[in-house]
Amino acid sequence: MKRSLIDILDFSVEEIDELLATAKDMIADPDKYAECCKRKKLATLFFEPSTRTRLSFEAAMLELGGSVIGFSDAANTSSSKGESVSDTAKVISCYADIIAMRHPKEGAPLVAANAASIPVINAGDGGHNHPTQTLADLLTIDREKGRIDNFTIGFCGDLKFGRTVHSLISALSRYENVKVILISPHELKLPSYVKKDILDKNNIEYVETTDLEAVMPELDVLYMTRVQKERFFNEEDYLRLKDSYILTPQKLSNAKSDLCIMHPLPRVNEISVAIDDDPRACYFKQVYNAKIMRKALILKLLKEAGSI
Ligand code: CP
Repeated sequence: MKRSLIDILDFSVEEIDELLATAKDMIADPDKYAECCKRKKLATLFFEPSTRTRLSFEAAMLELGGSVIGFSDAANTSSSKGESVSDTAKVISCYADIIAMRHPKEGAPLVAANAASIPVINAGDGGHNHPTQTLADLLTIDREKGRIDNFTIGFCGDLKFGRTVHSLISALSRYENVKVILISPHELKLPSYVKKDILDKNNIEYVETTDLEAVMPELDVLYMTRVQKERFFNEEDYLRLKDSYILTPQKLSNAKSDLCIMHPLPRVNEISVAIDDDPRACYFKQVYNAKIMRKALILKLLKEAGSI
């Protein structure tokens, strides 16, 4: 049966556990998976800029023995002539076995999934969701902390437009005893629909603050985020807010010794490069984990679709 991944909640906790187990096995024995997707094609349809997501999807498919087609500049495609997302998805279904799509419009990958005859993976839709970044984040937390429950996580920065934050909060809402601390300027607070539909509905304990240093000693995981310039309507607001939080070694002085510092990247100014060599810096590990989880995901969806 064809299945897509549009929202992280499309997968049960058990399915995510299976993906984590497959990913760990891929790390231990990559050769075992080197030809799993032979003669299969991934189409990467990126209507918005990306370095990590597109290239890690492509690396993932190549490491599975498959091949890749796609575009990274929608201006060179027929969408610039007015072709709809639905029609594009139907067309690509004739060329490939699975699609990874990034789009600036929230819901566009869902529209594609409804039209396509092959699985569609949401590789980020506007300020809404980024479920495959969440898979990478879950593997990172699991590998660094040895668990995905019983910890306190601080989300810091642009919680309004940060789609990785929305998806990770959704995923964590299903694990036991995860306390959430939301650190942002007032203008960039977590949207009320995420608070109501995810945190309140699942009785997740959370607090909101503007003061990162005050909550630092409580944190097991600190998830820094970039202020999303591309989502602002007004450059003046962006310039005023962009450096709201800059993590420096000094600000970590009262942090736990086993704090896990995460960032989905790209980083602009949110984490000083002086922190990169701190053993608590996990953001480049996230990049590696993302490729592995995307391998596990491609394999799962192609198997379920009966393609392999
Ligand atoms: N984390 C992430 O989505 O990075 P890119 O925008 O480079 O894909």
